[in-house]
Amino acid sequence: MPYVVGLTGGIGCGKSKAAEFFAELGAEVVDTDAISHALTGPGGRAMEAIAAAFGPTYVRADGALDRARMRSLVFAAAGAKARLEAILHPLIRAESLRRIRDSAAPYVILVVPLLLETGGYRELLSRVLVVDCEESQQIARVAARSGLAEDEIGRIMRAQLPRAERVAAADDVLVNDADLETLRARVGALHQRYLAAAR
Ligand SMILES: Nc1ncnc2c1ncn2[C@@H]1O[C@H](COP(=O)(O)OP(=O)(O)O)[C@@H](O)[C@H]1O
Ligand SMILES: [Mg+2]
Repeated sequence: MPYVVGLTGGIGCGKSKAAEFFAELGAEVVDTDAISHALTGPGGRAMEAIAAAFGPTYVRADGALDRARMRSLVFAAAGAKARLEAILHPLIRAESLRRIRDSAAPYVILVVPLLLETGGYRELLSRVLVVDCEESQQIARVAARSGLAEDEIGRIMRAQLPRAERVAAADDVLVNDADLETLRARVGALHQRYLAAAR
């Protein structure tokens, strides 16, 4: 197995941005969110099981998951989230493992937004990297990115581990409290350390 760094952090902290900078430097980035999205996109490999479990009304005309409809169901019906995750998680894990094994890069950044909350993937990881910023920055960035209302962002944040606990569980903390060039430089420093550790 290659050297794998688990990258996590609260919503809006900058996981995707940091992963992009790692990828530019030559790390293999395996993003479990992107894999999940592909599995539930048009013709995605989870769609047959989802249609069987939830009914064809959850499949759009193009063959993708009707995300808005599923979000409402998950919000309204107890157990729906667990049923969906029971379909998706094994597929996401298998695809992540395949990409990790197939990678020829010096090391892998595995992006798992709820890494610390769910406890999955830990046995694969050499290190846990937490991207961290102020909660006010999370809210501002997510609002600018998605237009979500502040109370909705707060709801998502409260479903995630509190900031202090996340940072306490980290091997490395990537502080994303300044501009993007600062983030890029900090990613560069971690990249050098991971290259050395992976050798
Ligand atoms: N240091 C920064 N300065 C300015 N904008 C940032 C910074 N870090 C992240 N962003 C922006 O904030 C938003 C959230 O970052 P993102 O990487 O998508 O967070 P996450 O993947 O953790 O939810 C994105 O639009 C991103 O481009
Ligand atoms: Mg992201």
